[in-house]
Amino acid sequence: MAESVSGNLAIVGAQWGDEGKGKIVDLLTPAFSIVARSQGGHNAGHTVLVNKREFILHLIPSGILHPDVTCVIGNGVVIDPGALLTEIDELERQGISVRDRLLVSEKAHVILPYHRELERLAEDGRGAQRIGTTSRGIGPSYEDKVGRRGVRLGDLADAAVDGPLAELIRANVNTRDRLIGGRASTDWRAVHGEISGFWERLKPMVTDVSKHLHQASKAGRTILFEGAQGTMLDIDHGTYPYVTSSNATIGGMCTGLGIGPQVIGAVLGIAKAYTTRVGAGPLPTELVGAKGEHLRAAGGEYGASTGRARRCGWFDAVVVQYAARVNGINALAVTKLDVLDDMDELNICTAYRCGGERLTDPPVRHDQFAECVPEYETLPGWSRSKPTAGVRREEDLPAEARRYLERLEAVSGVPAAIVSTGSDRADTIVRDGSLATRWIGSGS
Ligand code: IMP
Repeated sequence: MAESVSGNLAIVGAQWGDEGKGKIVDLLTPAFSIVARSQGGHNAGHTVLVNKREFILHLIPSGILHPDVTCVIGNGVVIDPGALLTEIDELERQGISVRDRLLVSEKAHVILPYHRELERLAEDGRGAQRIGTTSRGIGPSYEDKVGRRGVRLGDLADAAVDGPLAELIRANVNTRDRLIGGRASTDWRAVHGEISGFWERLKPMVTDVSKHLHQASKAGRTILFEGAQGTMLDIDHGTYPYVTSSNATIGGMCTGLGIGPQVIGAVLGIAKAYTTRVGAGPLPTELVGAKGEHLRAAGGEYGASTGRARRCGWFDAVVVQYAARVNGINALAVTKLDVLDDMDELNICTAYRCGGERLTDPPVRHDQFAECVPEYETLPGWSRSKPTAGVRREEDLPAEARRYLERLEAVSGVPAAIVSTGSDRADTIVRDGSLATRWIGSGS
């Protein structure tokens, strides 16, 4: 398999998610036959603008917007079958064919109807320490998976009321009722009826994804791996416990699709030219005043899945160089440079001051992380020069923007292959001689 895979590419979020992966995946997809997702669920929200039409994808890889591409949802993804079918229907209503091009792993775990309620109870129980989850039932579904009691998509095939699925759901409902201390009880038959009712429509898409990717690779078809969320939301490497419940870093792509590491040819990290996060947890470079408001408004920083306002701050190179290390990022795509067009001055965080120490890596404990004070390098903005919005050639960028990108690359330790200057596919700079030119020609 290894010899036919060098053209594959993985896209990972280098910050706290919402880096603009959707647009970059959309841009790169024409060079690939398959786009595959390996983790997360419909907590993700990828906004893609095509010919001035906006598409918001949650569970289905953004590659679906390209008619010749096969999309794959791996075993590492948790699936709310109702949400998946609604997303399919919505895309098909908009004229995008989905069911003949989407494959879903039989091993993917199912989000059960009461998982959302369990999530709400867990969040309420945390009081002031609430994580600010997306309320999609993601965490409880992964908890069932790791607790070895989860329902997998393939289990839906046998819906007999005395069959294994019914037994599994009955046992799960009992566990759930115990977990919430008998405060409410769920009718397992209703859960069974609802879940098994999705099977007929899902069945044609459910398959052995690992085998499909293996065979496709052998036949010379190339794969784009589409990450969801971001490095700092990774269950192992993120700002634990203020994270999501899956591995958003590169390893999640191997386990979440059943592929070997050599199948992933190169890793492109996506980072905004500034920083955002949704939900609670440390964000050292957060701007709470007018500048933060400005970034939020200029960048349209509201969640694609939940509509929540994103917290905004300066570019944090401590985070991005860390993301480069834990993912083995070869190059960056820097997105939303144009959002900085009106800023007179820009800060880049190069280190943290924490407990009398100078740190160049994120601390392990979230309470320490929350206390970190950023050390900034200040650069002039380009507000008095010319805007970057819609710029498609590097030489057309104002000198200050080029300098900002240079510093951002230097302190993050990774070259930028792509720079995005607007939400349209065409508002993109592909750096000459960069990794990205393997898949897309220079310029846009
Ligand atoms: P969960 O994934 O719903 O359990 O939420 C856990 C944390 O991850 C919360 O802070 C969410 O806001 C965040 N999160 C989950 N998915 C995304 C995403 O796609 N973009 C940004 N943040 C996300």
